[in-house]
Amino acid sequence: MDIDFANLQLQYQKYKADIDANIQAVLNKSNYIMGEEVHELERALEGFTGAKHAITCSSGTDALLLAMMAMDIQPDDEIITTPFTFIATAETIALMKAKPVFVDIESDTFNIDANLIEAAITDKTKAIMPVSLYGQPADMDTIQAIADKHNLKVIIDGAQSFGSTYNDKTDSNLGDISTTSFFPAKPLGCYGDGGAVFTNNDEYAKIIKTMRVHGQNKRYHHKYIGMGGRLDTIQAAILLAKLPYYTQELSGRQQVAQHYTDALSDRLQTPVIRSNRSSAWAQYTVRVNNREALQAMLKDNSIPTVVHYPMPLHLQECFQYLNYKQGDFIISEKASRDVISLPMNSFLSNEEVIHICSNLNK
Ligand SMILES: Cc1ncc(COP(=O)(O)O)c(C=O)c1O
Repeated sequence: MDIDFANLQLQYQKYKADIDANIQAVLNKSNYIMGEEVHELERALEGFTGAKHAITCSSGTDALLLAMMAMDIQPDDEIITTPFTFIATAETIALMKAKPVFVDIESDTFNIDANLIEAAITDKTKAIMPVSLYGQPADMDTIQAIADKHNLKVIIDGAQSFGSTYNDKTDSNLGDISTTSFFPAKPLGCYGDGGAVFTNNDEYAKIIKTMRVHGQNKRYHHKYIGMGGRLDTIQAAILLAKLPYYTQELSGRQQVAQHYTDALSDRLQTPVIRSNRSSAWAQYTVRVNNREALQAMLKDNSIPTVVHYPMPLHLQECFQYLNYKQGDFIISEKASRDVISLPMNSFLSNEEVIHICSNLNK
């Protein structure tokens, strides 16, 4: 049994007729840049998420940059975020010449510990950037209350959580701006790079649409310093073909997650999803205390695993200038040593999940 981590090949085979037809339509029209499929996808994403505006863009990384550009984040502004995330979260803050300020995570959900945020606020703080890690939104009620109290903005890095919910709202419909990634292995992936920004704020939406085309408000007239940040029409066409199946995909992922939890929770720390939330299950991540040996054993049994993430951001070389040190965020540091993500996609069969779990339990 050879298990595939994300199973993109099987996914394509399942949706091949729809995807091929949509790509062919773009080729026939040659409307490669900002074709009508891009706008059609944006309306469909608004319908799916409940957000007033969905603005597609070139990646989840660029979505974060566009969000901060819309908020006019300035050099030396501080943005509070988690050190236990993919680099893009804090990298984009630094690219804006602002300062990422880290606070530690909850040890069970791996999301930012909202109770630690207030202590990190200074007169330079402009925004809080929670990450919906592995697919589950953070404690948005507490985060929003802190933001309201201190007049801060909330940008949700929802790269991993498209379709997840918090109190029955999608996490694209929370905060001031929420973002996502359509990287191929993400829960809703295109077949290249892609992303989106979501907001209910008309003014932000207007600026973001301008920013993604070089700050241009009329051809060759540039109101802002922006970026080349559009989603390709072909990627929009692929996402349009996949979106109708996405609710089914989410429930497939949920079933796989439940199967894992039922089989593994006696022996391992399995994911904790709070009762007012649902996860898009970008990853199914457990904690183990013998990770390297376990990974090698699973690999010998054709079971691929990935570590998300082996080094927290405050210890990364690129952030040395922030002067954090080992021991500053012990829960994130311990998570980096313990976590391991198991194969996750909606096409995993019962036999495959049983095979993975019986090897793990061994
Ligand atoms: C938490 C998080 N933020 C941002 C990104 C960046 O998304 P992209 O790869 O589409 O630029 C990712 C992608 O892995 C991510 O996991």
